[in-house]
Amino acid sequence: MRFYSIVLIMGFAFVMNPAFSVEPTVSVWKSASCGCCQGWVDYLQDNGFEVIAHDVEDVVLIKQKLGITHSALYSCHTAKVGGYIIEGHVPASDIRRLLIERPKLMGLAAPGMPQMSPGMLSIEPKGYDVLQFNAKQETRVFSSY
Ligand code: CU
Ligand code: CU
Repeated sequence: MRFYSIVLIMGFAFVMNPAFSVEPTVSVWKSASCGCCQGWVDYLQDNGFEVIAHDVEDVVLIKQKLGITHSALYSCHTAKVGGYIIEGHVPASDIRRLLIERPKLMGLAAPGMPQMSPGMLSIEPKGYDVLQFNAKQETRVFSSY
């Protein structure tokens, strides 16, 4: 009986404590020599995400394989989390919002290399838009900084 109450209490603590909440792992594909890619990986880990990083020779190949065909969306690294694609220096808060709202999208992109973005020169995103895109590669602004 005592054993079952302990199991029950532990189960309850697991469900109620956000620290225990299970977020999907972020898989990242990047080139080994890219410092800002590693900066973004570190930033995600600092923000509580579990990250598995893969170094690849050709980052464009993985983008095409995952279904990003519109090269105007391309950035230095590509990630996958919870069935979505995350392209480039997207802030952690946008990834969390995506995973909570779960809109019908292919993913989010911060095209190019926004200078004041996490992993680049600023942990606080400044001066760029994060775009959402669908399988048809149609884009819309997801958040503006
Ligand atoms: Cu970069
Ligand atoms: Cu990168």
